[in-house]
Amino acid sequence: MQTVQESIYDHPVYYDLIFGSDWAAETKFLTAAFAKHVQGKTKRLLEPACGTGRLLYRMIKAGYACSGLDLNPKAIEFCNKRLKRHGIKPTAFVADMCNFQIDKPCDAGFNTINSFRHLSSEQLAVKHLKAMAQAIRPGGIYALGFHLTPLVGPTTDEESWTARRGHLQVNTQMWPRDKDPKARVERFNIRFDIYRPTGSMRIDDCLVLRSYTYKQFDSLVKKVPEWTIEAAYDFSYDIQEPIEIDESTEDVVYILKRQK
Ligand SMILES: C[S@@+](CC[C@H](N)C(=O)[O-])C[C@H]1O[C@@H](n2cnc3c(N)ncnc32)[C@H](O)[C@@H]1O
Repeated sequence: MQTVQESIYDHPVYYDLIFGSDWAAETKFLTAAFAKHVQGKTKRLLEPACGTGRLLYRMIKAGYACSGLDLNPKAIEFCNKRLKRHGIKPTAFVADMCNFQIDKPCDAGFNTINSFRHLSSEQLAVKHLKAMAQAIRPGGIYALGFHLTPLVGPTTDEESWTARRGHLQVNTQMWPRDKDPKARVERFNIRFDIYRPTGSMRIDDCLVLRSYTYKQFDSLVKKVPEWTIEAAYDFSYDIQEPIEIDESTEDVVYILKRQK
């Protein structure tokens, strides 16, 4: 099989297929979280690191005014093309989630599946939370979903799954390459095996993610007083079941509340 070493984010068609399947549970949860945790009405949304817009598109379909930004121009092009194809104004733009501006503050923001952990330092994470504080009005929320490093118990490190659309099939595998808890750097190999009637190919990539224990995340949030932790949920996305974070917590969606 032909193998290329490339960023999976440069392949939005395959990315969107592989990571697209959970959108229904995620959008249902986000809608419920806005209703429960935002003070006042939720109309305007922002998704930093929106990628292909697999969620952004659905939130617009659900009736929200939603815009998004991402560092990767190929993902943004894919996202805006899909919006246009469905007669929707293209609202995604290329930008860094640490340094962007929008015209009018939003009621809520969301950022899922570890994108936030791409920010490689405390300084960048603080910059991002400050930029989001500019973008979300007081009383609004920021739903931030990612994996914490549990202090006790096992971690879920290896994953593999398959997705199909028409004649396209993508098998994916993700497994740890190395972890440096002191430097707070975790590297994961990720592989897409792509099968089409015309042939197959493999994309190999390495995702570099910053690690957070719950204490490290608490300490980060305290550096940006515009935000407080209002609630937390896990990846079962059940709005009736907020979780208490403890030393064994791994998957978490924090609901950060924008203070006055
Ligand atoms: C795991 S994907 C998630 C995409 C999307 N949120 C989703 O749920 O499918 C991570 C995304 O973060 C983007 N990204 C990484 N660093 C970024 C930064 N500094 N600013 C904006 N986007 C960034 C990548 O380009 C990629 O599209």
